[in-house]
Amino acid sequence: MRVASKFNAQVMDYVRPYIQPGISTGKIDRFVHEFTLDHGHTPACLGYPGDKFPFPKSCCISVNDVICHGIPGEYELQPGDIANVDLTSIVNGWHGDQSETFLIGDVETNAKDVTQCAFDCLYLAIEAVQPGCLISTIGDAIVGYVQQEFPDFGVVDKYIGHGIGQKFHQPPNIPHVATRQSRQERLYPGMCFTIEPMINGGSSKTMCDKSDGWTVRTTDGEVSAQFEHTVLMTETGPEIMTLTQTGPQAGFRF
Ligand code: MF3
Ligand code: CO
Ligand code: CO
Repeated sequence: MRVASKFNAQVMDYVRPYIQPGISTGKIDRFVHEFTLDHGHTPACLGYPGDKFPFPKSCCISVNDVICHGIPGEYELQPGDIANVDLTSIVNGWHGDQSETFLIGDVETNAKDVTQCAFDCLYLAIEAVQPGCLISTIGDAIVGYVQQEFPDFGVVDKYIGHGIGQKFHQPPNIPHVATRQSRQERLYPGMCFTIEPMINGGSSKTMCDKSDGWTVRTTDGEVSAQFEHTVLMTETGPEIMTLTQTGPQAGFRF
């Protein structure tokens, strides 16, 4: 898992300089695809089964009001956009999964606040977990923070973090809003899982595009941002396995 997660972070650092105004999301996807194959590894998203169709590209790119599972294509990033790039690699059968939201050129205050809020939610959740803690520690930390600091923002509950290993998505569920299940299940040393909060600028409601079966948008057209890491619970606390060399680190201000 450490090797897979480190490789996945290297892919993020590789594409980072290309994420600029004018690039199409399809071109970013091709860079991800080619870099991954050139290193002998596999993009987990490509062909991943969905309710209607398998996912058609090698990563997810979700712009502005797209919450998650955006399909890369012709769209060219513009100044003022926020774009989440979500990468998952399979290395020797093991999965590493992470995402970052990128500010494209100058971005208005609200979109920047939503992005900062999602970033801070990821790190405060990581800082909140300890060996043996309830999984609901994560949702309670995130919801407590957002309700206090950004009462107009919504924490998405429909899409969640997950256990990860030889499967892309496996138990346990890691919700960002506590549930009955997450109040009964715990995180023990040796478990690998993702934390990947999605924060909406308005309502937490989601709608999935009926024609492509994947693209998830806000229902009110407000922007949404997300950050994700793959985390290992050790005997002494959480270890972030998908740390990048050149991305935003804990405490970063956008
Ligand atoms: N990477 C997403 C996650 O964090 C899942 C994407 S599934 C795909 O769990 F099929 F859309 F790629
Ligand atoms: Co992901
Ligand atoms: Co994930």
